[in-house]
Amino acid sequence: MRYALTALAALPGLALAYSNPESCSGTCVVSDPGLMRRVSDGKYFRFSTGGEITFATSDSLFGPWTGVGSVVPGGSRIDLSGNTDLWAPDLHYIEGTYYCFYAVSTFGSQSSAIGLATSTTMELNSWTDHGSIGVASSSGKLYNAIDPNLIKADGTFYMNFGSFYDDIYQVKMNSAGTKTAGSAAYNIAYNATSTHSEEGAYMYQYGNYYYLFFSSGACCGYDTDRPAAGEEYKIMVCRSTEATGNFVDKNGVACRESGGSPVLESHGTVYGPGGQGVYDDPKYGTILYYHYINTEIGYADGDKQFGWNVIDWSDGWPSI
Ligand SMILES: *[C@@H]1O[C@H](CO)[C@@H](O)[C@H](O)[C@H]1NC(C)=O
Repeated sequence: MRYALTALAALPGLALAYSNPESCSGTCVVSDPGLMRRVSDGKYFRFSTGGEITFATSDSLFGPWTGVGSVVPGGSRIDLSGNTDLWAPDLHYIEGTYYCFYAVSTFGSQSSAIGLATSTTMELNSWTDHGSIGVASSSGKLYNAIDPNLIKADGTFYMNFGSFYDDIYQVKMNSAGTKTAGSAAYNIAYNATSTHSEEGAYMYQYGNYYYLFFSSGACCGYDTDRPAAGEEYKIMVCRSTEATGNFVDKNGVACRESGGSPVLESHGTVYGPGGQGVYDDPKYGTILYYHYINTEIGYADGDKQFGWNVIDWSDGWPSI
């Protein structure tokens, strides 16, 4: 356990302690991890930004992780520049099929789209790319069509996505969760005070609430351009009894009005944690998984490490 000085400074009198990431062996370099366990044999599949969604497998969450290859080795069918450099995989298991949502984008450009590949085994070369799910952005929109995250609430699928501009959006999906239902996207989280962005949404239902996890701050390029302390990536959360809005933080501040409570920030040798997801593991319970910089390894994007911790929900909010 180490004490997060930035959190202590922000909340006088309240000591926040963060656990260190669990150990990882084998291929532990990862950005924006997506995690799924195969139902047939319990093998873990861990997906990552870069290439055409590279993935690794392991029999244990601790590793050793072994790199396998890419989800869509030829690149996405989506006709945008960046279709061979896919981002931010989001994994789901729906009625016998594994879904891998991904984003097509180019860093610094608003031309972006969300795609879907499916497989019944997750093996190499077993994935079928279906191209765009109907969520796209171009110059002038209030969002970027990146960082997909599917949630099913009361029988309806919704896609959370976005970053920069007006931060995090949501759109209703069809009954199979494969395409948008055609209605307009709406904002669910926005930080008016930020010079960076909220992105990488991951929504998870626990008890009576939907928890909206997101990454806030400067994500990348720390080796050449490190932000002021506290402005680097961190993992935040808001919650609501509905999946579609009214998210608030621990202090009751609306997530659309710059609210958000920290779940994990830089501490000790951990720097800029983000790109997170939540997984309901049969052995460890609900875990938060993420990437982070280990300051003893290096600050480059290519140095980002895989981390995870069991979530403690005891006060109705996730903490690790
Ligand atoms: C909003 O932005 C400010 C300034 O960058 C930052 O300090 C704060 O933590 C952000 N809040 C959330 C909820 O991300």
